[in-house]
Amino acid sequence: MPEAVGTTELAGDLVIRAAAVADVPAVTRLDSRITGMTKPDYWADMFERYGKRPNRFFLIAEGEDSGVIGFIIGEVRAWEFGSPPSGWIFALGVDPAARLNKIGSRLFEAMCRCLAESGVDTVRTMLARDDELNMAFFRSQGMMGGPFIQLEMSLDGFAGSHG
Ligand SMILES: CC(C)(COP(=O)(O)OP(=O)(O)OC[C@H]1O[C@@H](n2cnc3c(N)ncnc32)[C@H](O)[C@@H]1OP(=O)(O)O)[C@@H](O)C(=O)NCCC(=O)NCCS
Repeated sequence: MPEAVGTTELAGDLVIRAAAVADVPAVTRLDSRITGMTKPDYWADMFERYGKRPNRFFLIAEGEDSGVIGFIIGEVRAWEFGSPPSGWIFALGVDPAARLNKIGSRLFEAMCRCLAESGVDTVRTMLARDDELNMAFFRSQGMMGGPFIQLEMSLDGFAGSHG
């Protein structure tokens, strides 16, 4: 039986717990409903990489009657461009039919507890500037702009240009 996370996430018929391999199909279906893309291999790989290793957390929100209705994935990352170990959240989803019931908040709180118990004192995430829904959610949790900046450029012309 997957381990329940903390003690305060049990509320009504909702439990927040560590994901099990048996949850992968349900997470794949949920992500497909959210993003419109069905990626079974990706989610199997995500479970392999984040569902069973220290300082990596793949949590599930499960309703007694509704099954898997949310997920969140995070990990402790260290020393990227000099950053001391900190928590990173890089995947989060709640069933569209179950939103605005604080399920996302409970997943976020459970993840913060896991990360804090791993010894880090900061949690970070990254999202598109125009992603108003996720921005509103993370801001509601108390997250604010941090000290890092994301840079990027096109790799057009690099492939096959060795030498
Ligand atoms: C962001 C998300 C996780 C929020 O889940 P949720 O369970 O509905 O969130 P909560 O009920 O805990 O909301 C907490 C706060 O977030 C903010 N918020 C959430 N949804 C919002 C919305 N649609 N509009 C404005 N603010 C919103 C509110 O401040 C809310 O507090 P309030 O209800 O007291 O006003 C959910 O909308 C979701 O799954 N979005 C898609 C995520 C995604 O793009 N995933 C891609 C795959 S990784």
